[in-house]
Amino acid sequence: MPRHKIIVTRRWPEAVEAELRNAYDATLNPDDRPMSADALRAAMDDYDAVLPTVSDRIDAAVLSGPARTRILANYGVGFSHIDIEAAKANGIVVTNTPGVLTDATADLAVTLLLATARRAGEGERELRAGKWSGWRPTHMMGAQVSGTTLGIIGMGRIGRAVARRCHFGFGMKIVFFDQFPPPKLDVPAERLATIEAVLEAADFVSLHCPGGRENRHLINAERLRLMKPTAFLINTARGEIVDEGALVEALKAGEIAGAGLDVFEAEPQVHPELIAMENVTLLPHLGSATKTTRIAMGMKVVENLAAFFAGKEPPDRVA
Ligand code: 8YV
Repeated sequence: MPRHKIIVTRRWPEAVEAELRNAYDATLNPDDRPMSADALRAAMDDYDAVLPTVSDRIDAAVLSGPARTRILANYGVGFSHIDIEAAKANGIVVTNTPGVLTDATADLAVTLLLATARRAGEGERELRAGKWSGWRPTHMMGAQVSGTTLGIIGMGRIGRAVARRCHFGFGMKIVFFDQFPPPKLDVPAERLATIEAVLEAADFVSLHCPGGRENRHLINAERLRLMKPTAFLINTARGEIVDEGALVEALKAGEIAGAGLDVFEAEPQVHPELIAMENVTLLPHLGSATKTTRIAMGMKVVENLAAFFAGKEPPDRVA
């Protein structure tokens, strides 16, 4: 039987690429150059499966019309870069990789929270620039983390993992907003009725809801104004959730104290004014970037594909 033809849009960890090469007629991307929209559209005609990542924009133009591709096996839990409705309309199955990146992403959210509150980036920049004049009582005083209140928007797997770390590790009180909260929580946390109530109560606000159209600019100028002037915003979810322009203005006006960001509205572009701000920690979308996690994500894709091509329901089907 001829092997299924699949294309992997970016370079993946070697162990996963080896699995894919074994099982399929696999086209890999050893140079790791992002594919253009035209190349993605052409791939839909040539391959049985396309294995995209967050760096591919798979919109209605890519997804409509006759296509050979029957499944988009996405590498990553978030899938707001894929037009799910267009995929459904064309009968194309979409899968993602939940669960395996929860810990790594939660760890990174806490990294950003600590680094921003304790001015770690600023301190490192000062030291590396040879500008550290020595210890002094008032040098680079940051904000206390332990014992403060963390507000979580989106109490799914990653939100809860962040809550556990912050509550059991730093004695933080947890408040959260979630339209569909989990039936059982494994960390003491108070559910508040609105996003506004969370923003008003929290010393740190961490975003863990999906991106996409429905949550675009969920955090806008009006909502940023509700945060305490001493509070910090942490975003490891999706860039589009925060109105980046409004965030810049809020930071400039001192409406909030700082921000820790791993995701941006127009990645890999970052608002130039954010880059110039000392009270902002900026990371290049590293949420799931540990070797263990990136391999586990790939193996989830392998499982989803194997099920699909065996005529079974893929375990992580989202469309
Ligand atoms: C991934 C992520 O690395 O899984 C996600 O949704 O944001 C990242 O951790 C990226 O999406 C890979 O496609």
